[in-house]
Amino acid sequence: MARETVFKDQSKLSPDYIPETLVHRDEEFRELSRLFKPVFENKASQRVLVTGSVGVGKTTLALKFGQELEQAAKRRDFKLDYIHVNCRKQRTPHMVVRKLAEHYLPRLPRRGLAPQEILEDVVKQLNTHDAYLVLALDELDYFVSRNGPDLLYSFTRAAEETGAPGRISIIATSRNPNFLRLLDEATKSTFMHNKIELDKYNAQQLADILKDRVKVAFKMDTVREDTIGLVSETAAQTGDARFALELLWVAGRIADQEGIQEVSPEHARGAKAHVFPGIRKEVLKDLRKHEILLLLALSRHLKISEQAYALTGEVEDAYNVVCEEYEEEARKHTQVWEYLKRLSDLGIIETQPSGEEHRGKSQKISIPDAPVEMLEEELEKILGKLEKSGSVEIP
Ligand SMILES: Nc1ncnc2c1ncn2[C@@H]1O[C@H](COP(=O)(O)OP(=O)(O)OP(=O)(O)O)[C@@H](O)[C@H]1O
Ligand SMILES: [Mg+2]
Repeated sequence: MARETVFKDQSKLSPDYIPETLVHRDEEFRELSRLFKPVFENKASQRVLVTGSVGVGKTTLALKFGQELEQAAKRRDFKLDYIHVNCRKQRTPHMVVRKLAEHYLPRLPRRGLAPQEILEDVVKQLNTHDAYLVLALDELDYFVSRNGPDLLYSFTRAAEETGAPGRISIIATSRNPNFLRLLDEATKSTFMHNKIELDKYNAQQLADILKDRVKVAFKMDTVREDTIGLVSETAAQTGDARFALELLWVAGRIADQEGIQEVSPEHARGAKAHVFPGIRKEVLKDLRKHEILLLLALSRHLKISEQAYALTGEVEDAYNVVCEEYEEEARKHTQVWEYLKRLSDLGIIETQPSGEEHRGKSQKISIPDAPVEMLEEELEKILGKLEKSGSVEIP
């Protein structure tokens, strides 16, 4: 006999799922449409920046808008592609440009070509087909702080040098607009003028988002109204829809485990112990093995010491112990610094100079956004899966 479940379709709760409708973002959607009018009407390019804190719908807004753009273009017999690049995953200029090349130049050998050259070929291709590209550079802040702004300039240059300045438009997203200071005045001011800020969701908005999703993910009448209320109130502290959806998902799984056909507030309270806001599981999953080992070492050290910070030397000692446990050869000091830098770029850890003359340049390292005990558990799980299969899946 099949096991009873509260779910109709769990995939509708996964972070990869793009919802049918974007609840409570009509105004922002219209603003984007307004900004993109010149692309259709005057064949001019546009640059827009979407900002807002974690889980407020930046990525989803860009994706939904991209779908709409492509449909609108089709209706008008206008060749336009929307391509979405996640700059945290596609973390070098080569990787970003390769995404474009896969789409526009699938048969061309591009070994040894510089990103700028590939871009020029892409623009030529656009010219030949009288086509337009809207490129979403999701989490651009991460990319710019890592690589500098050159790639952004390359888009302008490639378009201008091939005599087609209007071919490439950009929708950038970023949690924090601070990265703009790394750009030149002209680019910075374009983004500043075309900035769409997504506010955090309040409890009511989160409840509406959850209700909309419950319809497609859960069976009829399995999720209690007061459960949605409690989850929304909890997630409203950060205004994060991803957190709200994950809480509800885990609450549903707990109900299933108990064999109960109704998701109750008690299940939601239980879910809180398994879900943490702030750090995304997908981000952890994308880390390389030694970054995970290092983060695990840091979590354990912070848990045991009960301090807010750990010093670089302490983290390295803990890392050596963890490496031994997992039978991995510990990487050298300079490499460990690299890992710390990446974890910090990803916003998982925070580093600041320790102010003390410990061993050379020491830093104070903290994990501001997640309870270290939960993080430890999650990292151990990921490492366990890595051991087994060499790759990981979510969740
Ligand atoms: N208005 C909304 N309506 C329906 N679902 C939403 C809405 N806003 C966000 N979500 C859902 O919440 C989750 C987080 O949204 P999204 O990934 O777009 O946030 P984000 O702002 O890009 O977050 P991050 O800063 O972590 O990248 C997704 O699963 C998305 O489907
Ligand atoms: Mg996002």
